[in-house]
Amino acid sequence: MNFPISLTVNGVRRDIELEDPRVTLLDLLRERLQLTGTKKGCDRGQCGACTVLVNGQRINSCLALAISHDGADVMTIEGVARGDQLHPVQAAFIAHDGMQCGFCTSRKDRPVTTPSACAKA
Ligand code: FES
Repeated sequence: MNFPISLTVNGVRRDIELEDPRVTLLDLLRERLQLTGTKKGCDRGQCGACTVLVNGQRINSCLALAISHDGADVMTIEGVARGDQLHPVQAAFIAHDGMQCGFCTSRKDRPVTTPSACAKA
């Protein structure tokens, strides 16, 4: 038995047949849609590496069942740039040689903990 769902991912509607209703949104994004910018870190809701926006709200996609978000609007890191124009956070990562965001790479000299703070760094 398959479970059809529809998601709008980074502005593109995706109609998906789930073979297993227990698949997480994270695994769907990475393994079915090949959007590997969303990372699997702890896979238990503690690290934030899997963060995506669902209907404009930040969630840990490793804790979200894909089927429970049928009809949702999902934005991953692949969706934040506008063509060749990087999002200010992406540009800041490159300009400041950031490995990861401030959630994952703590800096004792100058903590950066929010996207807006990161963009200003
Ligand atoms: S992978 Fe760590 S919070 Fe989801």
